[in-house]
Amino acid sequence: MTERARRLFFALWPDDTTRALIGERTAGHVRAAGGRPTPRESLHVTVAFLGSVAESGLTCIAEAAGRVAGTEVELVLARVAHWRRSRILSLQPDESPANLATLVAELWQSLRACAFEPEARPFRAHVTLARDARPPRGLAFDIEPIVWRVHELSLLESLTTPEGARYERLRSWPLTQ
Ligand code: 2AM
Repeated sequence: MTERARRLFFALWPDDTTRALIGERTAGHVRAAGGRPTPRESLHVTVAFLGSVAESGLTCIAEAAGRVAGTEVELVLARVAHWRRSRILSLQPDESPANLATLVAELWQSLRACAFEPEARPFRAHVTLARDARPPRGLAFDIEPIVWRVHELSLLESLTTPEGARYERLRSWPLTQ
């Protein structure tokens, strides 16, 4: 019998307060941009996208994450951006913290043990707000900043449902202070 494959990614998963603030402070931009908004319960920052992984690969992935000594990340989400080519509306931090870049690099390095190749594109921290989106004309791109202290790194599974993708948090690893 063929093994079940699971679509997995590591992410920073917002607490309920942060999630609500992201939803509230970007609601106007999301309305103006049209397309397919990310449901509020799915908002996140992708750290490493693994794609389709055989069930048997999960142990190696969890051990790889456990070896990474990440530190707490402070993201100040302050700016809405529209990427013209990919038609993605996103929310971004004013600055991408150095320790988040380190976390991403160390995670990919650790995942080499599970035969993953590090992502070639440079890491750009963002929360995808909508896909197939238009530029949200007439609105300032700066929002009232949302300070998000991230205490853990999470492993998510993307499940396909008739309503679109739904994400389930499988496991989290603490980031130290
Ligand atoms: P995003 O972070 O820009 O939204 C789950 O599908 C998450 O993984 C999404 O948040 C998505 O992008 C990201 N993702 C999906 N496919 C990807 C790919 N091929 N390469 C990198 N990231 C991907």
